[in-house]
Amino acid sequence: MKKELFSLEITYYDSENELNPKDFQLLQQAHLASQKAYAPYSRFRVGAAVRLANGEIVQGNNQENAAYPSGLCAERVALFYAHATWPDVAVEAIAVTVRSERTIINEPLTPCGSCRQVMAEYEKKSNQKMRVIMQGETGPVMVAESMNVLLPFSFVDDYLLKYKPE
Ligand code: THU
Repeated sequence: MKKELFSLEITYYDSENELNPKDFQLLQQAHLASQKAYAPYSRFRVGAAVRLANGEIVQGNNQENAAYPSGLCAERVALFYAHATWPDVAVEAIAVTVRSERTIINEPLTPCGSCRQVMAEYEKKSNQKMRVIMQGETGPVMVAESMNVLLPFSFVDDYLLKYKPE
């Protein structure tokens, strides 16, 4: 029997003002995106902004649907658009925020598992770390230097390639 211990590092900032200018701007874009979310059912408006290695910034927000499972999270809306438009450009960072009509959320939102899996795919593909910046509508900011911190042991293409039938 063997046990392994892993350590994961998250940085907490008291506010967005402590971020470097590029990340500050990305977070601002995520906030703008959250205002345009289509979330009539949950009223939980999530905004994401993706910064690519070529400097492009792509916004996304959650898109809900009366047939609930047909909707999609903000992070994947942004990531899929980014990868569909610039398939060979790495994602440097993604910022995620949330706002609610009921109250001001002042704690960070951490992305759902499916979105983390999508981040994992692109981080591995580009072989470049994807920084994840998370904040509520206001309040402290959480930063993971690599999405791998949020989803260690993600499912990767290595398995598929290794066990693919001839
Ligand atoms: N949602 C996101 O957009 N991102 C997440 O990481 C978690 C959840 C959305 C999906 C749905 O529209 C609403 O938030 C409530 O789950």
